[in-house]
Amino acid sequence: MNYRHAFHAGNFADVLKHAVLAQCLTHLKKKPGAFRYIDTHAGVGAYDLTSSEAQRNPEWEGGIARVLAAERPPAVDAALAPFLDVVRAMNPGDTLTTYPGSPELAARLLREQDRAHLCELHEADARTLDQRYIRNAAVKVERRDGYKALASLVPPREKRGVVLVDPPFEHRDEMAHMAEAVRKAVPKWPTGTYIFWRPLKDLWASERFDVGLAEWLFEENLATPEKVLRADLWVRDLEAEGKLAGAGVVILNPPYTLEAQLLELLPWLAETLATGEGAGWRLDGAATDESLSVEEF
Ligand SMILES: C[S@@+](CC[C@H](N)C(=O)[O-])C[C@H]1O[C@@H](n2cnc3c(N)ncnc32)[C@H](O)[C@@H]1O
Repeated sequence: MNYRHAFHAGNFADVLKHAVLAQCLTHLKKKPGAFRYIDTHAGVGAYDLTSSEAQRNPEWEGGIARVLAAERPPAVDAALAPFLDVVRAMNPGDTLTTYPGSPELAARLLREQDRAHLCELHEADARTLDQRYIRNAAVKVERRDGYKALASLVPPREKRGVVLVDPPFEHRDEMAHMAEAVRKAVPKWPTGTYIFWRPLKDLWASERFDVGLAEWLFEENLATPEKVLRADLWVRDLEAEGKLAGAGVVILNPPYTLEAQLLELLPWLAETLATGEGAGWRLDGAATDESLSVEEF
């Protein structure tokens, strides 16, 4: 396990993933009933952007820093608000020095009645994560394989909540592991909101995952097409060599407000975070013919 998220914290892929996560959690707060946040691949919780890892090749400069510095139309600002409010609260001065990982984003959005369950397999990272939340009774940290844990963590007692599956994609068979974990967990809790993150690197593999997931959900009567939303962003030509150019999320049971928010957010992100020709975005239902929108610059 060599993957270190500190090298990537706050990049374009994190911005989209964390904006979606913050919207999903915020939506659950519209009702008073408690919810649970489950993070299968949690990382260390928060990232010091002044650390040597974050400084070596500062991906956050092309992600969260650009988003904060740009002029944001009101609809984009509204879509980003729950996420950016947390980033601003963690950086009270003028300088951006800290970035929330998914655990910290969730921990700061939980209410008194809500709970979080975080899995992290890397020994040192799990220790760091545990230390971070040792005094927070609402947040449980486990050093555990998140794929294996997931089916035993659902349905949560609260029967409302969000699952984030955000693997490092170090191994070629990561998509297959993700698909297997989904097939065990979703039938046990088909009404939960699930966010699956994947890179747009091996496009054949990601398409196979997305379409395979959606078709399986429909065949098993676990979801209808409007319950699956795919949101992708690429900051330059996906065929370009070098660093990761694109990534996105597949969301099962998204809040009904999310599609409209993403239709405002994605074109703005593609334009604002573009690092080369061919940047673009896509919003659709993965296995449906009806494509909500695809645009390239
Ligand atoms: C992409 S990072 C997570 C970032 C985090 N979700 C966030 O948004 O801030 C993936 C993490 O998964 C951990 N990991 C790798 N394999 C795992 C597994 N099978 N179960 C749990 N964690 C794992 C890695 O150590 C790494 O910290």
